[in-house]
Amino acid sequence: MRVAVIGAGYVGLVAAGCLSHSGHDVVCIEKDARKMALLKAGRVPFFEEGLEELVLFGLKRGLLQFDGQMEACQDREIIMIAVGTPARPDGRIDLSQIYAVMDEIVFRARFPQTIVMKSTVPPGFGVNAKERYLERARVPLSYLSNPEFLREGSAVRDWYHPDRIVIGGDDETAISRLARLYAGIDAPIVTMDVSSAEMVKYAANAFLATKISFINEIASLCELVGADILPVSRAVGMDRRIGDQFLQAGLGYGGSCFPKDTCGLDFVSTCNGHAFNLLKAVIEVNKRQRLLAVRRLRHVLGRLHGKTIGVLGLAFKPGTDDVRESPSLEIINLLLDEGADVRAYDPLAMENARRALPDGVFFAPGVMEAVTDCHALLVATAWPEFSTLDWAAVRPVMHPPYLVMDGRNCLAAEELRQKGFLYWGIGRPYPVQGETRNPLIKTGQIFPLRQAVSP
Ligand SMILES: NC(=O)c1ccc[n+]([C@@H]2O[C@H](COP(=O)([O-])OP(=O)(O)OC[C@H]3O[C@@H](n4cnc5c(N)ncnc54)[C@H](O)[C@@H]3O)[C@@H](O)[C@H]2O)c1
Repeated sequence: MRVAVIGAGYVGLVAAGCLSHSGHDVVCIEKDARKMALLKAGRVPFFEEGLEELVLFGLKRGLLQFDGQMEACQDREIIMIAVGTPARPDGRIDLSQIYAVMDEIVFRARFPQTIVMKSTVPPGFGVNAKERYLERARVPLSYLSNPEFLREGSAVRDWYHPDRIVIGGDDETAISRLARLYAGIDAPIVTMDVSSAEMVKYAANAFLATKISFINEIASLCELVGADILPVSRAVGMDRRIGDQFLQAGLGYGGSCFPKDTCGLDFVSTCNGHAFNLLKAVIEVNKRQRLLAVRRLRHVLGRLHGKTIGVLGLAFKPGTDDVRESPSLEIINLLLDEGADVRAYDPLAMENARRALPDGVFFAPGVMEAVTDCHALLVATAWPEFSTLDWAAVRPVMHPPYLVMDGRNCLAAEELRQKGFLYWGIGRPYPVQGETRNPLIKTGQIFPLRQAVSP
């Protein structure tokens, strides 16, 4: 089939690469000139396992092209929209990229086409868009919602092995056309109305975020009662009704989806007169987890001014170079505010982090350079490189108190303690001077950092 994909980001480029690999004739339209130059040379502007090979293969077979102009979608039966839908500061979703693209599609349409919304848009958007845009098109256009569930870090695999394909719409012919596009993928296709399909995406992300904040709450409670979150979450997750995914306690969720989608759903709820209190708590707990890391550093080290902290991990999760809403970036900003010296390292995300962080951070060329001269280390991303690090070589280059804050519970706690580190995980026993509970949260209160900082 002849397809246009608009937006060569994490979703659009994966869709374009995979569809061309499945034999479809795909043009991927991207407005960013820097990205376009890289793509035309067969290079992917971000890291995603297996994607560059797909792109090169598509270019070589002539089934994948890149174009900077919207004219390129004029002769395509299916137009997939995969542009960004970032959050505004008030939680509302910024739909300006979508509006701009819809305007162009409608303006240029010369024959019946199917518009497929891959971007995550608030429930109700599609119904509104059909009235607002499609009714002024010169030719009949169909609109389908087709939310994307792939995960960065395993996006190509997720594209070919989704749990389900959700299609929202009322045009049977367009739905069959889109189903044919996915013919090679072995997954159930679930059809529904447009608003319900939009809701599936938000509900799924809100539920996964809820699991993360829930286990972080249990982790805090574990510290209070002297329990250990690792066996707790493992055994809870073995219950098939619950499942073991998204049950890892840590610094909380980040990335381009969960933070904006939870806030976006909360905003939609408020606008519709519904107080989604559960979701509000999920968002609040997630904010607290990041502050908790800084409070703990301050608790052990005292004033952070003049202290050197190594932050290991800048990407919001392993397997990607994406730093959008990464907890470590916010933590680094807070540490800088308190006058700490920050040495940062990530195996993949250094360039993106450099662009996102203010001056004053030392970006170490390797993990050993990052840990050198540090009073404390914060592991913020569970890269395997950190769990397999030669920790015996790390201690001699650090300063007392040799604190290792394991923000992802990915290190061997006992081994580190035996090697002379002061290890502190999330929701794990904290054995200092016979104390096995977390002295920070005995009162059950976590104060916002700025209130607690002395002038
Ligand atoms: N990243 C994920 O893991 C993921 C997963 C599922 C769903 N989503 C959703 O998919 C959508 C896209 O996410 P993303 O992470 O791929 O975003 P992204 O920011 O990585 O990519 C969006 C791309 O669209 C381009 N673009 C914007 N306006 C354009 C226009 N008028 N013409 C051509 N190109 C244009 C941008 O330059 C950018 O390269 C969002 O709504 C997101 O919520 C993302």
